[in-house]
Amino acid sequence: MKIKHARFVVSNTEVAKCPQPDRPEYAFIGRSNVGKSSLINMLTNRKSLAKTSVKPGKTRLINHFIINEEWYLVDLPGYGYAKTAKSERRKWEKFINDYILKRENLYSLFVLINSRHQPQEIDLEFMEWLGISGIPFAIIFTKSDKLKDDELQLNLESYKSKMLETWESMPPWFVSSAVNGSVRDEILGYIKKINTSV
Ligand code: GTP
Ligand code: MG
Repeated sequence: MKIKHARFVVSNTEVAKCPQPDRPEYAFIGRSNVGKSSLINMLTNRKSLAKTSVKPGKTRLINHFIINEEWYLVDLPGYGYAKTAKSERRKWEKFINDYILKRENLYSLFVLINSRHQPQEIDLEFMEWLGISGIPFAIIFTKSDKLKDDELQLNLESYKSKMLETWESMPPWFVSSAVNGSVRDEILGYIKKINTSV
């Protein structure tokens, strides 16, 4: 699938104020700094459509981008950033949970996991909550360019075996690098397949 147009639509903290849920939507979530905003820029081939930062805690709102005027990509704030004030963290959690549970045109979430790290409780618990809540999702292992291939394979294997302790099978998964963009076509193909099946 070719991305001809990508433009920012609106930012907010309330599901009710998001754009009309009249077309397919895909959102990116995961720990702060895992590379959600960078991935949106890589997929759309735009340097700074979504704002990125070397410091965690950059994205703080629900940000809608419309692609080819046909479907939405959504950049969400990260979870698990220790330096965020507790009250603010609770506020984020509430609007993110609300968004995930209530957004009727959310066809799939992408849960981003840093491919350099061992499985983290916070991500595993979050995915279990998605499973219990019946929210479809795929995993994207990010920053693969920071690892040697054999280290990457080892980490992926250990992640899969951890997941299979609680899941019957792995959800769809991708390995990405925002630096070399190698998985762009695969992720866009996955989105296209869902777009055309509904
Ligand atoms: P928050 O909005 O704070 O939750 O973070 P985020 O998940 O949106 O992360 P962001 O895209 O802002 O990226 C965080 C940092 O990681 C930036 O310095 C990016 O340049 C870097 N980064 C993101 N993806 C990759 C990648 O695939 N490879 C490498 N080497 N760096 C990456
Ligand atoms: Mg971000």
